[in-house]
Amino acid sequence: MPASSHFRSVHLRRSVLSVPAINSRALEKVHGLNCDAVIFDLEDSVAPEKKAEARDNLNRFFAETPLAGREAVIRINALSSDFGAQDMETVLALRPQAVLLPKVDSPDDILAVSDLLDENDAPESLRIWAMVETPRAILNIAAIAETGRTEGPRLDCFVVGLNDLRKETGVLPLPGRTYLVPWLMQVVLAARAYGLDVIDSVCNDFRDLDAYDGECGQGRAMGFDGKMLIHPAQIDAANRHFGPAEAAIAEAEAIIAAFADPAAAGLGVVNLDGRMVERLHLEEAERLMQKTRLIAERKAAR
Ligand code: COA
Ligand code: MG
Repeated sequence: MPASSHFRSVHLRRSVLSVPAINSRALEKVHGLNCDAVIFDLEDSVAPEKKAEARDNLNRFFAETPLAGREAVIRINALSSDFGAQDMETVLALRPQAVLLPKVDSPDDILAVSDLLDENDAPESLRIWAMVETPRAILNIAAIAETGRTEGPRLDCFVVGLNDLRKETGVLPLPGRTYLVPWLMQVVLAARAYGLDVIDSVCNDFRDLDAYDGECGQGRAMGFDGKMLIHPAQIDAANRHFGPAEAAIAEAEAIIAAFADPAAAGLGVVNLDGRMVERLHLEEAERLMQKTRLIAERKAAR
């Protein structure tokens, strides 16, 4: 399996909305929402005595009104918890695009689930996403990314969870996420080293859209592929910030055209209006255009 980021397949994961599986009204709403992916949550947003009812809701949702054209992800409770085994049965029956594992600490947490999926003949298309939300996950992040890639190739995506991480570490929720940034960057770096996507944490304050907009811009600047969301009001800004900007699309088209010119055949580097452009920029440009096409397809389908 190639580890380089160049081989990362392109997915649209700008806006990844969490929906509590217990909330039928919210489940009904997702069809009309313009988010790229939906996380159906069986974990923190569902009270212990409601877990069975939440699973029933998902069974009904997937049978009667399944999501079309977008990734459906089920967040389960930890395998070691009272609910994990039954949640996994639900995942195996419903076959979403991915299962999201909470509170991953080490590579073994990924391998346990990837073994379970293999033993139950789950299709290769059923991927693993991992919440990065514990101090140990941050300490072990490179090993988690690497093991997921090399031993159990289902690992596809990290999702940072700052609510748990703040709780566990005592770091305060300051503007700019000052003391969290080094950890966030470490997660982005590990994801890139092993060709995974990486999604920024939720912003709890869904009424303060100005602060949220700033956090989306920061997440994009840090290299995240998208943001986990808790409320429909957060979708548009995530799509805007994590989607390619007009200027970036024009630039990508110019780079692709420059290298397509017969005069550039065999060249590793060309002059684009007085700036050096290398073939590595071409790969980036092609990824960006692929994303742009996916966005256009998504728009056309709505
Ligand atoms: N997905 C889909 N629809 C949602 C939604 C979500 N995550 N959050 C809110 N909505 C819907 C509401 O049902 C409501 O619909 P209605 O007007 O038809 O009744 C509408 O959006 C407006 O919601 P609002 O009244 O502003 O908020 P609320 O009080 O209903 O819900 C929360 C607020 C925080 C409880 C809710 O957004 C939520 O549960 N978010 C997800 C939490 C979660 O998944 N946590 C775990 C991951 S961190
Ligand atoms: Mg959590």
